[in-house]
Amino acid sequence: MESESDIKTTPRGFHCVLCKVNLPNQSSVDQHVKGRKHQTLSNVRSTRKTQEQHSVFVSGINSDTSQADLADYFQQFGNVSDVIMDKDKGVFAIVQFSQTESIEAALSCVKHKMKGLNLRVKPREKKEFKYIPKQKCDLQNLQQVLDHLKPQLCQLPCVNAQIQYIEKRFQLGDNEKKARNLLVELLQEVFVEFFPDSQILPFGSSVNTFGIHSCDLDLVLDLENTKVFQAHTRTTSEPQAAECMSDDGRSEDSILSDIDLSTASPAEILDLVAAILRRCVPSVHKVHVVSSARLPVVKFHHRELNLQGDITVNNRLAVRNTRFLQLCSGVEERLRPLVYTIRCWAKQNQLAGNPSGAGPLLNNYALTLLVIFFLQNCEPPVLPTVDRLKDMSCEEEECVIEGWNCTFPSQPIAVPPSGNTQDLCTLLAGFFSFYAKFDFASSVISLREGRAIPITDFLCRKDNKEENPTRPYQSGPRLGPLNVLDPFELSHNVAGNLNERSQKCFQKACQDAEKYCRSLQYLRKSTKGKSWGLVRLFTPSGGVSQTKEDELNISIPFKPSALPEALRGQLQTAGEEFRSVWFEKVCGSVERVFQSVLRCDLVFSSGFAFPENSAAEVSAEMETSPGPLNTSANDGMDSPTSSAAAGAKRRLSDDSDMSISPQGKKPRMSKRGKREPPYWLWVQKHPVWAGRRKVRRELIKDADLRPEGSCLEIEAQVTDGIIEKEEELKEPLDFKVQAHVVGETESTKVELKLEPCSDQAGVFQDFVHFLEPFLPKMVESLLAKAAGGAENGPSR
Ligand code: UTP
Repeated sequence: MESESDIKTTPRGFHCVLCKVNLPNQSSVDQHVKGRKHQTLSNVRSTRKTQEQHSVFVSGINSDTSQADLADYFQQFGNVSDVIMDKDKGVFAIVQFSQTESIEAALSCVKHKMKGLNLRVKPREKKEFKYIPKQKCDLQNLQQVLDHLKPQLCQLPCVNAQIQYIEKRFQLGDNEKKARNLLVELLQEVFVEFFPDSQILPFGSSVNTFGIHSCDLDLVLDLENTKVFQAHTRTTSEPQAAECMSDDGRSEDSILSDIDLSTASPAEILDLVAAILRRCVPSVHKVHVVSSARLPVVKFHHRELNLQGDITVNNRLAVRNTRFLQLCSGVEERLRPLVYTIRCWAKQNQLAGNPSGAGPLLNNYALTLLVIFFLQNCEPPVLPTVDRLKDMSCEEEECVIEGWNCTFPSQPIAVPPSGNTQDLCTLLAGFFSFYAKFDFASSVISLREGRAIPITDFLCRKDNKEENPTRPYQSGPRLGPLNVLDPFELSHNVAGNLNERSQKCFQKACQDAEKYCRSLQYLRKSTKGKSWGLVRLFTPSGGVSQTKEDELNISIPFKPSALPEALRGQLQTAGEEFRSVWFEKVCGSVERVFQSVLRCDLVFSSGFAFPENSAAEVSAEMETSPGPLNTSANDGMDSPTSSAAAGAKRRLSDDSDMSISPQGKKPRMSKRGKREPPYWLWVQKHPVWAGRRKVRRELIKDADLRPEGSCLEIEAQVTDGIIEKEEELKEPLDFKVQAHVVGETESTKVELKLEPCSDQAGVFQDFVHFLEPFLPKMVESLLAKAAGGAENGPSR
């Protein structure tokens, strides 16, 4: 069977060469080959093969040759079932016969003369069928576009011309803009029927002057006026409410009578928006609400325009910051070409653009703000600070949204031109050099002030009350390894999603680019036709972000002071062996977090020196526990293991070399005598990281819970809440976690190496991004509750 030859054995299990996925064991192989993806690809492959076996390759035709001409001519060798022409150039055609014998007949004919043309007829090349996974396709697309542009770029006289060429090549065309405007008008007409006086406003890349071909259409449904309308109709006499009219004579629609806009949550409103899109807007399909995003959104696709659209509600700040980006482009013409070029570089180096929406990479907005911040810091500045822009505006331009001052001039003419005359080539190199040296760890980037605020000063600031004392209380921004304050919503770090690793990759890529920009290959056109300038800059560096593409590490440090008395005593008694005792405890906790908190399915584990019951038993305990407020002694790790439960965990392989060591023994040695690091194979079917903070907040609010006490149970309930709310992942994530203990006494830590085995949904990075702070925190709190006795959970 062909499916059998698609499956290859690997050191880690199996690999399907057709679908390009790793599979941990035989049962996943069996499921996979029966699955839709494998079946579809098998069918496509066999159709292609049949076509190949029934057709010949014909050249020597010209642009006047038609399919009918070829069908007529080749009919003499047998029944022709199809003719496929290379339409653009009229250089070749594929002629397909119903019977394979006809191929022999056509090939054995020495001369093919058709309408004065000498045709050359050859057998088809046998090409191996290859499937390119979707996520890689996007990157490959950019790579393909850049490969295609390479000759043109190399022929240009200088880097400045190359940068301008990139801008022209990628920017949204006039027709694309027109099509988007038409869709906005159509949506406006529909929505105003249901939400009187509402407005549909585009924001983001479609209108911010940085859009590229086929970028999303981001829209805001502004219901502020509708709220006023609704309040008015409700305060006028109730019985006559149905007859109330808006200024332009419309009555309050039935949809409005179903919902109170002043109290409805964005998610409730978006459900209505989704229903309207589904029922009333032609060509719109794939409509769904994503309520877990920072700003809940309705996503849809427009079939005819092949356009992805997002609608958020009342997101006026985004409309305003889009106006800000437009102003910056109008004020400084070097900004757009620089942003397009830096976006290409970032995408090529996998520094920006998160495939599944949320993720640890920079978003385009954050990247654009980084470019503007750099330009504010050039000597002399290329762009003014946001505070300076505020001073340049007049009274009528004053604008405050949700308490944030968003004042800036409406026209670029109000902003004096910059005295900086550096060319694009120099500014691009300057961008890399600026961020190569930037002290991200201890600064907060403020475009408002145009400077990096030391993090210590920033934390000492009370609240930016000077903006507007009426602004509702806002908590500070979520600080992380890279902090870029939104220029208006000062409590929002637009790069708050980055983790240590993605920040390091960004800085390392800037350092590599800075070095390259100092070389002659950047500055001077090659006289020998070699790649130079941007072409080499866009060639992925294979730097930090790529060498370890699949493998990610999470560390859990040894913190004796956070451990309970009894466990500390146990470690002391263990003397030199304290590291293995602690390692076992950590591994036990890690297993519990994956299994009992994050509801991962354990497929297999190997080399752990503890009994087999802990996670299974904790799950059972949690199912029977009286409720989230239960903070009994069984909480966390302090659950004595019962011998009856031992062995409850199912092992899906009986490979004796991988069996679990008896209690208390160290991990087994492999046949070659080298110690095998212990590992687990897990499957995660749910996006348990999606909107976690929000679900936790709601849970705590609803049950009036305090988060302290039983973190394991609360977090498990949060997971269950997400599982209930969110759709399952399209394909489950199979991943391996390997544990090592490393370092000297002071710096002892457990290093967990995470690696995807099968990640068709492309969520591995997002999952690890979430685990990075979550897992160590959970393990620490489980360890803090551990009683030290040998009978305790993980010390199996
Ligand atoms: P994107 O990051 O998607 O940028 O943010 P983009 O320029 O539209 O790029 P693509 O092509 O769609 O990926 C879209 C808009 O969302 C708002 C900004 O108005 C931005 O222009 N936004 C984004 C924020 O207000 N805050 C954020 O943190 C992110």
